[in-house]
Amino acid sequence: MSNFSEDLENLREDLKDELMAINNYQRHIDGTDNHDIQTALGHIRDEEKEHFAELVKLIRSLDPTEDEKFIKEEQED
Ligand SMILES: [Fe+2]
Repeated sequence: MSNFSEDLENLREDLKDELMAINNYQRHIDGTDNHDIQTALGHIRDEEKEHFAELVKLIRSLDPTEDEKFIKEEQED
């Protein structure tokens, strides 16, 4: 596998990890009645959402096909 393909594959794995982190924090938030924990984890969860967006932006900049698909989806709305 080329370095470029390996880089993209690793970035997609990173993307998956960010989504799993978002779900895990949300699950923890939903499972507690402690407001301080909910507030702190909500902040962390939202940071993970930002990481997800940053990775999508990076993947789009490296993979023209992925970028085209996002543009196409955005135009259909
Ligand atoms: Fe993250």
